[in-house]
Amino acid sequence: MIDLKNDLLLRAAKGEDVERTPVWLMRQAGRILPEYRAVRNSLSGFKELVETPHLAAEVTIQPVDILDVDAAIIFSDILVIPEAMGLTYEMIEKKGPYFPSTIESEADFSKIRVATGDELQYVYDAIELTIKELDGRVPLIGFAGAPFTILCYMVEGQGSKTFSKARKMLWARPDLAHRLLDMITESTIAYLKRQIDAGAQLLQIFDSWAGILSAEQYRVFGIPYLERICRAIDLKVPVTLFAKGAHFSIRDLALLECNTIGLDWNMPINLARQMAGPQRTLQGNLDPTTLYASGKDIVKQTEKMLAEFGPNRHIANLGHGVYPDTNPEMVKIFVETVKAYKHEKK
Ligand code: CP3
Repeated sequence: MIDLKNDLLLRAAKGEDVERTPVWLMRQAGRILPEYRAVRNSLSGFKELVETPHLAAEVTIQPVDILDVDAAIIFSDILVIPEAMGLTYEMIEKKGPYFPSTIESEADFSKIRVATGDELQYVYDAIELTIKELDGRVPLIGFAGAPFTILCYMVEGQGSKTFSKARKMLWARPDLAHRLLDMITESTIAYLKRQIDAGAQLLQIFDSWAGILSAEQYRVFGIPYLERICRAIDLKVPVTLFAKGAHFSIRDLALLECNTIGLDWNMPINLARQMAGPQRTLQGNLDPTTLYASGKDIVKQTEKMLAEFGPNRHIANLGHGVYPDTNPEMVKIFVETVKAYKHEKK
């Protein structure tokens, strides 16, 4: 075990007192950095980068060097799980993910199996290398998609504004939806345990499409599977649940065995705090488009956010991934503002 020189993220997640609020950004490793694009452009595509451990480690560490954030997040994608289960994906330039084959009927289940975790050795290799190269500077976050969000891609085959095919399955064939969610959940548990063994120090579960469900449906098709994942991880490392748009479910999420609830920017912070209760850390939630504002306004908005969250049980972040055309200099202003901020003594 390498001792961490900066463990603010882990302490904030566990609710311990911190000298200052830790900060990182969802999607910090990626297209906002020219250094990332240079590595990426030298390769056949996104997947080669994900599947080549020393390059994945390199781009994972770039934001720590360049943006001075308090955590690294392993460079990978949530879509490696459907691939490990048998559905390969392509990442189409400027468009996004595409699955040539999808799960729509009972017969389609012959294409997939529960992943053992062995399929994703390249991720564990990248994690081990990153931990070694970080040498304790900051913690490394591992991650996976939540079962419902992964189902969306496996059924729909690509991104969508409405994911109506996936939502159709929930009504037309709830039995198939549960069968698929169950297989994804088991695969994800195996995968996350292996990430912990490889050295991941905190895990984040991305339920990016949670907000397209009703509260009632999320209780049936979302929450129970997250509950199983949390139980299986058993707080061996701190766990963050980010269910974008699912404001209605913050209370339910906070009842699970997790440390941190991720928030988007659409809900008032004080209301989210009331719903989550005092025993959970909150992460977020600056609107990513704030980073298109002037430096002065970014400072003002960031300070306002920090004051509202208060000194403890908060991890500063955006309310969703940083947008690709964001100027890294503006990201630095956000990070520096969080680091310089002094909370008023009560
Ligand atoms: O820096 C990090 O946060 C770590 C790496 C990371 C990526 N994807 C790399 C990536 C993480 C945590 C993800 C998660 C992910 N992937 C989510 C959940 C988070 C969210 O944004 O809601 C989702 C829904 C995906 C699926 C996905 N991957 C889409 C829809 C796309 C295309 C659109 C887009 O955002 O770029 C990707 C591609 C992808 N994943 C890129 C990166 C850096 C861009 C591809 C490239 O460099 O060409």
